[in-house]
Amino acid sequence: MARLVHLSDLHFGAHDERLVSAVETRVDELEPNLVVISGDFTQRARTEQFREACQFLERMQHSGHEVLGVPGNHDVPLYDVLRRFLSPLARYRRFIDDNLCPFVELPGIAVLGINTARSLTFKDGRINQDQVAFIRDTFARTPTDSFRILVTHHPLFALPVGDQITPAIGRQELALDAVQDAGVDMLLAGHNHHASSHSASDLVTRAGGALVVQAGTATSTRIRDQQQSFNAIDVGDASVTITVNAWKNGHFVPLDAERYSWAEGRWRVASKPEPAH
Ligand SMILES: [Fe+2]
Ligand SMILES: [Fe+2]
Repeated sequence: MARLVHLSDLHFGAHDERLVSAVETRVDELEPNLVVISGDFTQRARTEQFREACQFLERMQHSGHEVLGVPGNHDVPLYDVLRRFLSPLARYRRFIDDNLCPFVELPGIAVLGINTARSLTFKDGRINQDQVAFIRDTFARTPTDSFRILVTHHPLFALPVGDQITPAIGRQELALDAVQDAGVDMLLAGHNHHASSHSASDLVTRAGGALVVQAGTATSTRIRDQQQSFNAIDVGDASVTITVNAWKNGHFVPLDAERYSWAEGRWRVASKPEPAH
């Protein structure tokens, strides 16, 4: 039905140029219907870093790719306290997107982005009542058979990363209720610099049936327990295939693929297909 490329945590300012140009080459090869970028465009929200991120977006658009992005915690200034509290996302809005809740509809698919970055809790993310209402209202206006995708920087769930568990988003219960009410089929996030996918019902009992997908960092030099990577996501009729494209020997190559199919109200791993080249 459609192919998405899911990039995250570009961190311009702490990036590697070789990875940036390899991402662009691989995205061109994949010919996605939409490129989603789930936040942390910059390392420290400096003007020069946003300028580089903006140039990256312009090249993406010049190559014919439609892009939907949300801010991450690193897109809010950390040390510039005045700017951090008075106009935390002014540079993001100037260089990346003035719209902090972007919405794109493709045939059969609806994609909504929500900003979870906050000035007060620099690292952790939150969601608020207005955003929850916005998620419900926006998806209520889409056709009932649309595949609904919600994009945030911070994952809604606590997740295993190496030997640690990362925290869930602030006000998680509020967010999960909205996700379930809105019939969200897939959640895309980043922040952990760790690619993973799960069925929500395996993470939290009352989470509903959404597919929970995290992208690694695509271009940052700061990695945790995985190489840089990004996801190619093929959405079909009642199936989703997620292929992790990982940095290896100077290129992004399809490393690992997981195919989920919808059965009995939740996503289940259907098979491990050979990653498509
Ligand atoms: Fe990050
Ligand atoms: Fe982050």
